Formats: sequence, structure tokens, C-alpha cells
Amino acid sequence: MIDPRLEGRELKRVAFSEEQIGARVRQLGNEVTAAYPDGTLLVLGLLKGSFIFVSDLVRQVRRSLQIDFLVVSSYGAEKVSSGNVRLVYDPQAELEGRHILLVEDIVDSGRTLSRVIEVLGERRPASIEVCALLHKHHATYLTRPPRFIGFDAPNEFLVGYGLDYAENFRHLPYIASLE
Ligand code: IMP
Ligand code: MG
Repeated sequence: MIDPRLEGRELKRVAFSEEQIGARVRQLGNEVTAAYPDGTLLVLGLLKGSFIFVSDLVRQVRRSLQIDFLVVSSYGAEKVSSGNVRLVYDPQAELEGRHILLVEDIVDSGRTLSRVIEVLGERRPASIEVCALLHKHHATYLTRPPRFIGFDAPNEFLVGYGLDYAENFRHLPYIASLE
């Protein structure tokens, strides 16, 4: 695949096009809007992978909400989860009594999400639900399945639309698999 954004590097194939993502994110926005008829809603994005997804998703949600972010330790240049999930940045927002929608780019082993849910749960929010753009469906560590899922992901390493490999490819408007 030839794309000037890749500096000559090769991607295997486009898994989800810009159009497919846009259509699905609009639907997810409707689902989230319908799921929270009342109460406060705090959208918590897991950085960095969710930054594009969060910004597109919240513009499709037609209710009041607030936005904050979390930073957890990432894979670095690895393609597999170390299982060593660290909270690097804590949301400044008060979590007690609020409905939290945790937004994640992709659920792989489920370690990241399970750990984050555990930590956030200690602050006694009214509820915690997960919205994942992609789900690989082999998450053996997942204590709670995501309530909202964008796409079932193929069992390949994906990049683009926020997803990286060694910090590259995040800015691609589509999602592609690496060799
Ligand atoms: P888990 O803890 O194994 O579920 O991994 C979740 C995190 O790993 C995601 O938030 C991503 O940052 C990263 N990750 C998992 N699979 C992929 C992939 O296919 N491409 C890019 N990043 C991935
Ligand atoms: Mg990553």
C-alpha cells in the first residue's frame, strides 16, 4: 500500500476505511446518547490511543457531558502486553457519584481495562461502562465486557486512527494491519 504518510513503510491491508469508521462512530454516538437518559456523564479517554476516537465520538453524543483523560503505561515498541499496567496520569475530575464512560482504542488481552476499572472503581463512581472502538475478542483478563463496541477486530496488529506501532501511524484516518 503506497501512502506518503508511511515514509515508504508497508502496511498489509486496510481493515476499516475512513468512511466505515465515520459511519460506525455516528451509530456509537447514538447508542451512548440513548444509554444515558439522565445524570452526569464523564467521558474518560485512555491516552494516547483513544485521542482521535474520543474527539469524533463526543461530537456524535447529543447530551451534556464532560471529558477527561487517563494515561496508562503502554506497550512501547512491543506488540504484546507486558501485563505491567501503570497509571501515569490520573483524571483531575471528581469521580464519586458520576457516570463514567471509559473510552479505549482496542481491547486485546483486557489487562489494561481491567486494571483501570479496578482503580477507578475505588473512587465510587455511580457507574463505569466501557466504549471500545475495537475488540479482538480474546480478552482472557477482562472482568467486565465493553458495553459499546465499534468493530470486532481481526487478530492482527492494527495501526491508525489513534493506534500506533512504536508511536508511528497514529494519524492515519483509516485502520490498517501491519505485516
Ligand atoms: P490489553 O491490555 O492487552 O488489552 O492491550 C490494550 C492496549 O494495547 C491498547 O490500548 C493498545 O494501546 C494496545 N494494543 C493492543 N492491540 C493493539 C493493536 O493491534 N495495535 C495497536 N495497539 C494495540
Ligand atoms: Mg499503544
